[in-house]
Amino acid sequence: MSFLAQQHPLHLSQTKVIAILISMMILAMSVTNVFLLSFAQAANLHSHSDSQCNHVHPKPNDVIHGVHLEPEHVMKRRSLDQRLRVKIYYDTSVYKLEEAMFELINNTVLPEAVSYWERALMVRKTESVIRLSRKCRNNQVFLVPNDPHPYCMNACEAATMCGEVQVPEHHLESCRVCDAQGKQCRSLGEGAGVGIKDADFVFYVSAMDTERCQKGMTVAYAAHCQQEVSLDRPIAGHANLCPRSISTKLPELDVLISTVKHEILHALGFSVSLFAFYRDSKGLPLTPRDEHGKPALNENLQARQWSERVIKRIVRPDWLVREGRVRKEVHMMVTPRVVEEVRKHFNCSTLEGAELEDQGGEGTALTHWEKRAFENEAMTGTHTQNPVYSRITLALMEDTGWYKANMEMAQPLNWGRNLGCNFAQRSCMEWMETKADKEQHLHPYCNRVKRDPLETECSEDRNSVALCNLVQHTYPLPDLYQNFEFIPHISQTEIPYYGGSVALADFCPYIQEFTWRSDNIAIRGSNCLYEENNPRPERNFALELYGPKSKCFEHAGSMWEERTCRQVRQWQHWGSGCYEYACQNGRLNIIVDNRTFPCYYPGQELRVRLLSQGWLHVGSLSCPSCTELCQETFLAANSSCKLPMPDPRVGQIYPNDPLDCGSLRPVYSVALSVIFFLALQLLI
Ligand SMILES: *[C@@H]1O[C@H](CO)[C@@H](O)[C@H](O)[C@H]1NC(C)=O
Ligand SMILES: *[C@@H]1O[C@H](CO)[C@@H](O)[C@H](O)[C@H]1NC(C)=O
Ligand SMILES: *[C@@H]1O[C@H](CO)[C@@H](O)[C@H](O)[C@H]1NC(C)=O
Ligand SMILES: *[C@@H]1O[C@H](CO)[C@@H](O)[C@H](O)[C@H]1NC(C)=O
Ligand SMILES: [Zn+2]
Repeated sequence: MSFLAQQHPLHLSQTKVIAILISMMILAMSVTNVFLLSFAQAANLHSHSDSQCNHVHPKPNDVIHGVHLEPEHVMKRRSLDQRLRVKIYYDTSVYKLEEAMFELINNTVLPEAVSYWERALMVRKTESVIRLSRKCRNNQVFLVPNDPHPYCMNACEAATMCGEVQVPEHHLESCRVCDAQGKQCRSLGEGAGVGIKDADFVFYVSAMDTERCQKGMTVAYAAHCQQEVSLDRPIAGHANLCPRSISTKLPELDVLISTVKHEILHALGFSVSLFAFYRDSKGLPLTPRDEHGKPALNENLQARQWSERVIKRIVRPDWLVREGRVRKEVHMMVTPRVVEEVRKHFNCSTLEGAELEDQGGEGTALTHWEKRAFENEAMTGTHTQNPVYSRITLALMEDTGWYKANMEMAQPLNWGRNLGCNFAQRSCMEWMETKADKEQHLHPYCNRVKRDPLETECSEDRNSVALCNLVQHTYPLPDLYQNFEFIPHISQTEIPYYGGSVALADFCPYIQEFTWRSDNIAIRGSNCLYEENNPRPERNFALELYGPKSKCFEHAGSMWEERTCRQVRQWQHWGSGCYEYACQNGRLNIIVDNRTFPCYYPGQELRVRLLSQGWLHVGSLSCPSCTELCQETFLAANSSCKLPMPDPRVGQIYPNDPLDCGSLRPVYSVALSVIFFLALQLLI
């Protein structure tokens, strides 16, 4: 699964920009000028068509289905009360990794990802040891009456693979064969291996730089490889971590862990290859079985075909897009716990189920939640920001019939919460038009085109500086995804080219985190909580501070400036930034460059004039309400936010550094428009 955005290269190199600035300085000579700076960094929104998760599901012949653990009547009687125990086995490729990489994977990534699912899921306890079945030559298997084990026709394969990993001999059952007529059935060789004790799932992990790793910047992929026979639960799987895509930097580490969790879940149950095996709460199949005890094969999908009790097709006859109302067909997961949870989540009691992804082709479509409906849910097909594993995903795990979920492990999903049927069952165009008609904010969508000067906003939870991901595409979008009749500042002929940057979200535009890039190399992210995202001091024009205690605050008024007695420079992007804050004396206080600015009412403009790094930084911040950020803190201390009151005289109580230049005054000049024009090319 690839999660790193790879987008348009920059048009100007950093050296060119500096050269331009120097030439302008010479030109300007003693006249002080305003410089607009953007330092050859472009804001790149995450997610791209090739950063989709491509879960290449195991084909029916790749999976060994029939591992005998215990008789069905014994298994079914057991309750779902055993915390899932996952045993990990490394392929030799993992031991060949560089030490730092090995430690990262062995001590952080895998333990965190695996233990999350171990805490989140419970299974019927596997009392016996797990011995995996051997692969039969030509996949030809006999079932022998009164014998739970499968027999191969003529011979077993020399090696049994689980994905890219060869299953060790001591994990395998003995090789059982019959002749071509199904006679003379017997065990060959040295008998069964010792097997795997105290485990409910065996996970083979490799770290090979495979062809799939090189395609589409994949980070990791996983799938199951064997299912036990009585309830069809997957009991073995493999994951490959792509060594060249693994980074040890902190913001990327969290994404990596979430990606590995996501991939593991494909192996545990969320996969096109497993939908047809789901069972109800009594352990009965939701999809009818054929004479071999399996659901019918869907040749097209190369998967077993599920019934309508698992996934239903629903037609939306009046889906609103630019050309009018059209017919749209969606696939919905309609198992009972999922239905219950999505209805609660959206507050829509007529919602048929949870919509599945319909774009992205094999590997993305059907095997993920629909991005438009579930944006940052981690089981959507592409990573954009702040991935969470919601109650809906855990409910799906319960609906497999193989697990009970510990709902306390679910993370809150804000996207779409309580927005009702009009959000969950209608197009984003209809939602936006309805909001616009009522002169309300388009939340959670947006319609501000990303352009110069780049004007950032804050994400809803204030955890990051964010942008509306509405961009101009190089091609007109398919009719079904043209979500606008009108966009401010955009001409009618251009409208078909405009849409959100995330294709899987049906090109619906929304507020999103992003990465600053220079020459296509990620410089820093926009999430406030990571220290790594701090701009370099000489570029920190708005005196931002990123770290675990920071939140995003909107800038008020106009662009920020930096002044000396001889120069004024303005920056090419503004709009919001990350700052620490303090809840004190009944008020929210925003901290800028270690100085405190109290907020007296929401919307109050805090003027900032502070000396730092030899420049006077001039700008302003907008106060959110005290309750939004301080309610919890104050309640915990048995106090509360004071009532809003008018601004006490600004300038007297607020920090305000002087810039004493004697008779020399900074002067704005015509150079402004020239530089503005040059800088415009820097951003996408
Ligand atoms: C790998 O992790 C396991 C369990 O977390 C630990 O016991 C083992 O020492 C680690 N191996 C190395 C080489 O660090
Ligand atoms: C859910 O929707 C109903 C109307 O459909 C509304 O009355 C109720 O307030 C909503 N609940 C929440 C929590 O938004
Ligand atoms: C912030 O200011 C306080 C006093 O106001 C000072 O003690 C502290 O060292 C300062 N911290 C930084 C990082 O400048
Ligand atoms: C909180 O404050 C109220 C009144 O100010 C007081 O009656 C109450 O005992 C306090 N509770 C705690 C837990 O301090
Ligand atoms: Zn996936």
